[in-house]
Amino acid sequence: MKYTSLAVAAAMALAAPAFAQTDLKIGYALATDSHYGVGAAAFADVIAAGTGDEFNIEQFPSSALGGEREVIESLQLGTVEVTIVSSGTLANFVPDTGVFDIPFLFRDLNHARTVLDGPIGQEILAEFDDEGLHALAWGEQGFRHITNNRNPIETPADVAGLKIRTMENPVHLEAFQAMGAAPTPMAWPEVITSLQQGVIDGQENPLSVIVSVKLNEVQKYLTLSGHVYSPAMILVSGPFWDSLDDETKAVFEEAGKAAVAAMRAYVDNVETTGVETLKERGMIVNELSPEQKAEFQAAIKAAYETYYQTYDQSLIDSIIATK
Ligand code: PAF
Repeated sequence: MKYTSLAVAAAMALAAPAFAQTDLKIGYALATDSHYGVGAAAFADVIAAGTGDEFNIEQFPSSALGGEREVIESLQLGTVEVTIVSSGTLANFVPDTGVFDIPFLFRDLNHARTVLDGPIGQEILAEFDDEGLHALAWGEQGFRHITNNRNPIETPADVAGLKIRTMENPVHLEAFQAMGAAPTPMAWPEVITSLQQGVIDGQENPLSVIVSVKLNEVQKYLTLSGHVYSPAMILVSGPFWDSLDDETKAVFEEAGKAAVAAMRAYVDNVETTGVETLKERGMIVNELSPEQKAEFQAAIKAAYETYYQTYDQSLIDSIIATK
């Protein structure tokens, strides 16, 4: 018996890496089969390969570590190392990020990707280093659309008084207030129960979320409003980032790029297949025509006045002018 234990111990010692492997937590709000899940998996693969398995990325999907704001705060404290988040609460940490939440700002996915990967997006990423965070890259969710249980939405009058959950994001909140809806900012982990209990009538999110969360189980109508682009971000804990050497930091930057590529590929796919999937699952779907979209844009005129007071007009103009 004694000899067997020794042999097992010797075999284990030979198989074990020559160093202690460090587990790092990555937390995110959605399931492993979502755009966040595929991004996190791609991230983990590059980290394992690039660091010779020095770091092992442990996945904490489905808000297992809390809501997005809580997880970002945990990154600042250094108790969680990595997260993929929406822009929901980012402006609380770096106010400039809110400019990308302005409705009808981006023409299409390519426009958004060009701005975020270009100087405007990269300068805003760099601001996170002063907030106990390191922003690796802009990820993506897609354009947000409205789902609800009350009625189909074709004109701004159809959202009057609609109890719609928004992210805890003042730019989104102002837009829905200006439309005459009754918006309720709420952290994501409360949303499904609130929809089931009828506390809210609807919510808004991109197809990537609506499909992967199966929102059709709690929502009847989907309006393809595309009212705002929804960026995501891959963030690393500042204290953890500061502890890394330059070589390892370069691996993390590569992993961030791999995560973005995986997320964008997921979004590209769900943008072409998602509506059919949701119709098959029983949702009643309508798409706003360009004229109907223009009516919504006109309805939020008052919100635009606030946006132009909050964000530099020249910044907004250069985003719009980016080709
Ligand atoms: O609506 C939100 O809060 C976000 O889009 C979500 C679903 C948590 C993904 O980051």
